[in-house]
Amino acid sequence: MAETTHDLVVIGAGPGGYVAAIRAAQLGLNVACVEEVEALGGTCLRIGCIPSKAMLESSERYHEAKSALAPHGVKVSGVELDLTAMLRRKDEVVGGRTKGVEFLFKKNKVTRYLGRGRIDGPGRVVVKNGSGTTDLRVRHIVIATGSKPTTLPGIQLNADRIGTSTEALSYSAVPKHLVVIGAGYIGLELGSVWLRLGAKVTVVEYLERILPGMDAEIAREGQKLLERQGLEFRLGQQVTGARVDGKSCVVECQDADPIRCDRVLVAVGRAPNTDGLGLDSVGIKTDEKGRIPVDDHFATSAPEIYAIGDVIRGPMLAHKAEEEGVACVERIVTGYGHVNYDAVPGVVYTQPEIASVGKTEEELKESGLEYRKGVVFFRANARAHCLGQIDGRVKVLAHARTDRVLGVHIIGPRAGDMIAEAAVAIEFGASSEDVARSCHAHPTLAESLKEAALAVDGRAIHS
Ligand code: NAI
Repeated sequence: MAETTHDLVVIGAGPGGYVAAIRAAQLGLNVACVEEVEALGGTCLRIGCIPSKAMLESSERYHEAKSALAPHGVKVSGVELDLTAMLRRKDEVVGGRTKGVEFLFKKNKVTRYLGRGRIDGPGRVVVKNGSGTTDLRVRHIVIATGSKPTTLPGIQLNADRIGTSTEALSYSAVPKHLVVIGAGYIGLELGSVWLRLGAKVTVVEYLERILPGMDAEIAREGQKLLERQGLEFRLGQQVTGARVDGKSCVVECQDADPIRCDRVLVAVGRAPNTDGLGLDSVGIKTDEKGRIPVDDHFATSAPEIYAIGDVIRGPMLAHKAEEEGVACVERIVTGYGHVNYDAVPGVVYTQPEIASVGKTEEELKESGLEYRKGVVFFRANARAHCLGQIDGRVKVLAHARTDRVLGVHIIGPRAGDMIAEAAVAIEFGASSEDVARSCHAHPTLAESLKEAALAVDGRAIHS
């Protein structure tokens, strides 16, 4: 049994883990990263954000070629779906990105261990793979093991007809009728992919609204626009079970008729990955949701053991994990490191995209904070007309007295890119006046953010 020494070992090579490892190496530490899957990049790169965005892009192109180009004066006929090629392209995008992380590890001299990492008492990590075990002696440990899809009691996932996002990224044929359980990020994105490729898609959601946690006004508009595309919502229905029945599947709901379909996508959230991590060996106890409790600096209850990303509190988002990874190792090395959770954006990559940063209107109402609101519609934006995508709105929420931007919520074309400006504004403590007085290029979609900031003070020019 070999024994090797490192200053810092990161367990997990997802966006949180690999970014933490690279940053720690940049800061001069001797760093290793333990990852049990051959391809680096974690759920996000292999079976999450990246493949889903590749499929969202391809399916949108197919939909456009089939039915949205005529108004542009482009006549197409004989458009056909080549699902095998679409899936291959998705795999190529993923393959390229995971190789990119491998390259970055080499460039930054991060040692990579292939195998399952387990903490074995203070300062010890054991890596186990098919060829044996390696013992690592380490000073600091960062746990970045991410999360896995959860299911519901009464649903037996069978990794085929009743599956999670992992299977829904690679169905070998377009389902005739796909039932999606959960109208969250995954349900809406992957539901959109298969809808565009020709499936009937029914989304069953326990709550009376879609996208819980997002601004309600924006979510309502999202529902309306997705319904117009053909997505069918059954809100306020609790799924109690799903099973395979001969050639079809049956989804059972409380107080409603069962739904018969040919595939089921269970998208009801994710759970932290802490099984077999050896937390007991260092006295770490998980909370009621299975997460690892940490302080403001990502320190667990065990000395020199830290945790970041989906295994701790907060939204399960790749970029949140990245920020935490950087802040965590910078704090270890320099004594400073901080994440501003009010400036972490969220993006749902539907068509149109839905993006959000800061406080929602509901949160502001609940907190009793007085705010002013500016809303503008993309139909008042010239660039949106040129793109042929005029649905949606931008909403800026600012403090009633200080005018500080508290939240920005966008539904519309490229909202996911537009939200970056709002995140910077919040990070810098900008007022809506600051955003309104910044010159925005014309014609751009970003002008709608400026206009919404102007609208906070009732002086939008174009609406
Ligand atoms: P989610 O938490 O976003 O949504 C799950 C939905 O399932 C909720 O609306 C919930 O009310 C509903 N639900 C729960 N039990 C139900 C039942 N018995 N019957 C009907 N509905 C039920 O979870 P999701 O979509 O699985 O995503 C998991 C995580 O992955 C999220 O935390 C999300 O942040 C992250 N993610 C982020 C993406 C992005 O940044 N674009 C894309 C995909 C996932």
